Amino acid sequence: MAALVATLAVWADNNTTYQPTEANLKARQEFADSKLGIFIHWGIYSMFAQGEWYMTNANLDNKEYAKAASAFYPAQFDAKEWVSAIKEAGAKYICFTSRHHDGFSMWDTDESNYNIVDATPFGRDVIKELADECHKQGIKLHFYYSHIDWTRDDYPWGRTGRGTGKDPEKADWPHYYAFMNRQITELLTRYGDVGAIWFDGWWDHDQDSIPFDWQLDEQYALIHRLQPACLVGNNHHQVPMEGEDIQIFERDLPGENKAGLSGQSIGRLPLETCQTMNGMWGYKIIDQNYKSPETLIRYLVSTSGKGANLLLNIGPQPNGELPAAALDRLKALGEWTSQYGETIYGTTAGDIPAQDWGVTTRKGTRLFIHIFDLNATELFLPLSCKVKKAFVYDTREAIKMRRTKEGINLTFNAIPTGTDYIVELVTE
Ligand code: GLC
Repeated sequence: MAALVATLAVWADNNTTYQPTEANLKARQEFADSKLGIFIHWGIYSMFAQGEWYMTNANLDNKEYAKAASAFYPAQFDAKEWVSAIKEAGAKYICFTSRHHDGFSMWDTDESNYNIVDATPFGRDVIKELADECHKQGIKLHFYYSHIDWTRDDYPWGRTGRGTGKDPEKADWPHYYAFMNRQITELLTRYGDVGAIWFDGWWDHDQDSIPFDWQLDEQYALIHRLQPACLVGNNHHQVPMEGEDIQIFERDLPGENKAGLSGQSIGRLPLETCQTMNGMWGYKIIDQNYKSPETLIRYLVSTSGKGANLLLNIGPQPNGELPAAALDRLKALGEWTSQYGETIYGTTAGDIPAQDWGVTTRKGTRLFIHIFDLNATELFLPLSCKVKKAFVYDTREAIKMRRTKEGINLTFNAIPTGTDYIVELVTE
């Protein structure tokens, strides 16, 4: 018990007035241990096959766009197939777009008819089917929820979605805010346990002359009141705000900023990096530029090396199937995680930050050295802890080790090769 309390304390932040419940702290720990989640961007935008921003990028009138709903019939959708493929990949949770910036709800909401049950011939509540299947297969379900709406007039115009035919004169924040909170209440009361609510769109008002008040405190409190263990995350590209339980990074590992969205510093909440398999979140027919299985496995291990989770995206096809290229990647991830999963699940960032040759992860007295690229048979590891043993993870074969004042030097029989050559060190 003492150990549990101590571990949970890691995620508590004494500087805020929001005091997460014990159930929430436990959920944070489980989240931090889980390392791999699959993001799913699916909506009527999938039909245009141009990604989830198409309405805005092409300045489509939202009423013209909405007609797509009446043709949405994803005949191949099978929640069981999705969840099974994702689970076999070694993912521990799914984050599904309940409502994206286009404003279309993927569940049977009472708050608007612009939803998958009332507005499409398909007429099935895919969130219900997914939630039931996730609960059955023991995988957590998170909901992506957009704060932006490019269709509703009551959502006050931000810096995106200005060519979609919205009437800025009709903006009515209190009305829209109440609508969102009622929708969030539905999501948290109708579909069983929800692992997280993942907000997106805060940045739509980051250039307002008068700072926009999203009233996040109240909204976050509502979530925690309805489901205390439900984690709140927000893809605002800022340091975590009061009431949030995880810190999100987009398209970059924490501490890196190659994509330009992740300059924020790293706080002390559990971390998650979301990343695409190709270049887009929603299905985009011309983007077949999928990252190789090797790249994705290394990305997953590198994310673990930062102590973070990878939320890896798939954009399902309009017919309801996961693209074959994505299924291939899931399979490759599954082959890797089933063999080497224990070197990432339940680990923290290793003692040595990312290097040219690879990354490290730690679990108790076990330090895993993940070698991606080493052009030598020698590897120096700057370590202050005492290393008792070094061996090849796969074969348990001992590795020659020489201690120096600054660390240890490993000598391999041959240059390490493969996607991830893992060395295990037993330390004190
Ligand atoms: C960005 C995009 C959005 C996508 C999200 C995923 O915020 O606007 O389309 O859903 O990233 O991280």
